[in-house]
This record gives sequence, C-alpha cells and structure tokens, in this order.
Amino acid sequence: MKIGTPKEVAEGEARVAMTPDSALQLQKLGHDCIIETGAGALAGFSDADYKAAGVEIAKTAAALWKAADVVAKVRPPVDTELKRLRDGQTLISFFNPGGNEKQMASAAKKGATVVAMEMVPRISRAQKMDALSSMANIAGYRAVIEAGNNFGRFFTGQVTAAGKVPPAKVLIVGAGVAGLAAIGTSTSLGAITYAFDVRPEVAEQIESMGAEFVFLEFDEDTTDGAETGGYAAPSSPEFREAQLAKFREMAPDIDIVITTALIPNRDAPVLWTKDMVEAMKPGSVIVDLAAEKGGNCELTVMDEKIVTDNGVTIVGYTDFPSRMATQSSTLYATNIRHMMTDLTPEKDGVIVHDMEDDVIRGATVTHAGDVTFPPPPPKVQAIAAQPKKEAPRELTAEEKRAEEVAAFKKQTMTQVGLLVAGGLLVLLIGLVAPASFMQHFIVFLLSVFVGFQVIWNVAHSLHTPLMAVTNAISSIIILGALIQIGSSSFLITLLSILAVFMASINIFGGFLVTRRMLAMFQKS
Ligand code: NAI
Repeated sequence: MKIGTPKEVAEGEARVAMTPDSALQLQKLGHDCIIETGAGALAGFSDADYKAAGVEIAKTAAALWKAADVVAKVRPPVDTELKRLRDGQTLISFFNPGGNEKQMASAAKKGATVVAMEMVPRISRAQKMDALSSMANIAGYRAVIEAGNNFGRFFTGQVTAAGKVPPAKVLIVGAGVAGLAAIGTSTSLGAITYAFDVRPEVAEQIESMGAEFVFLEFDEDTTDGAETGGYAAPSSPEFREAQLAKFREMAPDIDIVITTALIPNRDAPVLWTKDMVEAMKPGSVIVDLAAEKGGNCELTVMDEKIVTDNGVTIVGYTDFPSRMATQSSTLYATNIRHMMTDLTPEKDGVIVHDMEDDVIRGATVTHAGDVTFPPPPPKVQAIAAQPKKEAPRELTAEEKRAEEVAAFKKQTMTQVGLLVAGGLLVLLIGLVAPASFMQHFIVFLLSVFVGFQVIWNVAHSLHTPLMAVTNAISSIIILGALIQIGSSSFLITLLSILAVFMASINIFGGFLVTRRMLAMFQKS
C-alpha cells in the first residue's frame, strides 16, 4: 500500500504526520511512502530528508491524495480534503468525530475508512498509538515554558549577593497527561509545585514527582477512572464548591496557574474564577490548556494572550504542540506508524482492518460504507466492571482460636515424629559405629539443628547482620580446615580443601551481596 501525507492546510499548523524516520519504519512494513512537497518544512524536515529516506515527493496535494491508499495527517480534514477522499481509501488523522457528524457521514457515504486518532482507547496496549497523550505531554511541558516566558522571575529560589529570590509557586489543576508533564517540568525548574485533581488516586503520582497534592477535606465517592476509560467522572456541585473555596484561599499566594482540567466530550469546567484572578499578584501568569473547550479560567480568551487590569497574564493558546513542531511531529508520526503496524499484521504491505481488535475498532469512525462511531466500550472495561468476588467471611474469636490450636497440634506432631525418627536413626548408627565417632556425630547433629532453628527464625530485616555472623562462622571453618589440611590421610585433606572452598564462597558471596544491597541505598 502507499501511505501519503499532505501538507497541513490549517493556518499556523506546523506539524506533519510523517517524518523521514517514520517513513523508514513504514517501509519495513512493506508500504511505500509519498509526501506532498514542503509538508515537513515547518517541522524541520526538508524534501531532501524525505527523499533520502526513500519517500516519493508529490508536487501537489491533489496528486498526493490521488496516489495514496492511506492518507495520514494531523488536523481534521477540511472540505476540500474530504472531497478528495475516495472509496476504499483510509484516512488516519484527528477527526473530532463527536462534533463532526456531517463530515463523518460524507466519508462513510464515499466508502472511505476513517481512523480518528483521538478515539484510540486509553488502554495499556494502545499507549504507543495514543496521540492525544503524546500531544498533551508536549502541551504540558510547553505550558510551563510559556508561563516562564511571561513570568518576570526565576522558578527556583536563589540566595545571591544581590539579594534573596523566593522560589515561584506553581499550581497545576488537573493531573492527567498534560498536568503530569507540567508538574515534572515545573519541579525540575525548581518551583514549589502544588497540584490538584478530582481523582484522589493520582495523589501518589503527584507526590512522587516532587509536587504537593492539594488535599480537599471532602467525602465523595469518586470513581477510579477504570469504568470511564481512564478519565474522570463529573464531580458533584458540593465538591466543586469546596474545590473553588480551596483555590480562592490559594490564589493570592500562587504565582503561576496551569489548568488542564477536562472531562472528555464536555465543556471545560470553570475552576479559576474572575475573583481568583483579581486576587492574584501582578506579574502572575495563568496558562489555560483547556482554552479550546471554553477554558478552566473564566477570563481566558481562546488563542490569545491577555493581560488583566491587575497585571495577570492569561495565555489561552490552543496550539502548544504545533509550537514545538519537530518534537510533536516526531511523536505523532510514531503514533501513526504504530497504528499502521497494527493494521499490517503480516508486515507484507497489506492492510487488514480487524474490527474485532479493541484499539482499531475504537478508533475507526467510518468503515465499509457505515458510520461506526461511537464504538462499543472496550473489552477491558468489562473487566473493570466485573462484580467483585465475595470477600471471605470474617472468623469469630473462638473460631480463630480453634484454628490456631489445630495448627499448633499439627506442628507439634510433625516435630515429635521427626525427633523420634532422628533418635532411632542415631541409635541404629550407634550400634555399629565406634564411640569416638558417635561423640562427634551427635555434636554435629545438634549444631545443625540449633543452627537451622536460629537462622530460620531470623527476621528479614536482620539478614545483613546475619550474613556478618555466618561470615564469622565460615572463617572459623576455614581455620579448622587449615589445621587439618596437612593430614597424612588423603580423605581428610580432600575434605579440608572442600571446606575451605565452600566457606570462601560463603564469605566472598556475602561481600558481593552486601555490596549490591548497599548500592541500592546509595544516590548515584
Ligand atoms: P486528561 O484527561 O489526561 O487530564 C485531564 C485531568 O483533569 C484528569 O486527570 C481529570 O481527572 C482532571 N479533572 C477533570 N475535572 C477536574 C476538576 N473539576 N478539577 C480538577 N481536575 C479535574 O487530559 P490531558 O490529555 O492531560 O489534556 C488536558 C487538557 O489539555 C485538555 O483540555 C486538552 O484539550 C488540553 N490540550 C491542550 C493543548 C493546547 O495546545 N492548548 C494541546 C493538548 C491538550
């Protein structure tokens, strides 16, 4: 098949859906690649780079759409592009199927297959194709950089000869993909970072990245996201009020707010109100990543940067990934390439559009003349929604005691049995062996028994000191063996050599293990 990528027609869009690297990988799947001339220029990839990677260059968009069996692009197609779509052709791109019913119907009518990249389900197996996440990751990073660009101070605190600089205080609202990327960037720049999300289970992730989770005293049965495909469920009005009250309390103290809160297929919730903006210090910055869906900040103007009367800058750009076009094109082209890998199971250049596959089915919005959007919920949800297994019944105190007594009796019987068997064996050996041997043999048996009982019952946390003790015992063994090694009996010499060898393994092995354990606690 021929995979083609046209130049993006949306104004200001610098990304491209195919890079020279991804083209090489697509060719390994048995496909040919074609790109419209200049399509990669704004992302830093020239026609010559593509040619060197074996990609054919189409002179016009019309020629490209005509030649390609599969068209991969970034932005949803505009009408002129849709007109070029034909029967049997596959289009892979962002499509906004929820808000694009007319275009979807027209693509289906033409008999084209449309794979909408935003519909890739957020399940582990599909992560490599999850273009929403790869773009949100870039947006989160870029939001912090943009905030820094508009903020008149350092992120990190400094004590210099010229004076003391306090660290910036950054609040990230919504710790999804973009939010976590923003947290990582903000903490690595040295700011004191706070983060809030309606999903309490992300608190650990937030804290592991060096930020502080803004804890809300509120008792609400929040979903763990498993039943909503990894996304949050809407929160109650009471919860929202508690959240706003917390933000209102924080507003005067926060220098930078980055909002990323969103629930799919809904308008962005307003979480940073006008009075909060007014309460912020002059010079503070708000970057509203949810601007495209109405914004999390009440004063955000989509696609614009404004400065309020009290000197707060509010950035509402919706093209952060495009502002880092080389990076975002590389990641997006990789997402497309992985989608193509799933669509080409035999790596023979033949596309098999398997509608039984959760990921392919989820992302396909038109196929074989039909609109296939919305998809059925992925099968993994069925797993999440399975009824919980009944927990075992709690035992009463009496039942517990009876169980303990039975276990003790069983253990005692086994031990008595072993002792009787051992005693009988020693008696039998004593009948034939000389008295001097028996004396040593009994001491040996008792040592083994006592040693086993001592070591077996040592707590795990004491294994390192235990190793030191066993090393000391091994040294005693080596000393004993060295005294015996010069014996005239070959057997004694052999046993001594073996004893030295085995004890040395114990000693040096112990050193090695201890070294590795200590290394685990050392900072690199
Ligand atoms: P996501 O779904 O992974 O994360 C959104 C997070 O917001 C979730 O963790 C959710 O629990 C949280 N959330 C929802 N309601 C909340 C509330 N009331 N309070 C606090 N947290 C709440 O989404 P992702 O991929 O991280 O994207 C975040 C936003 O960034 C979206 O609005 C997306 O459209 C936008 N975006 C913007 C770009 C730009 O250039 N401006 C580029 C890419 C993404």
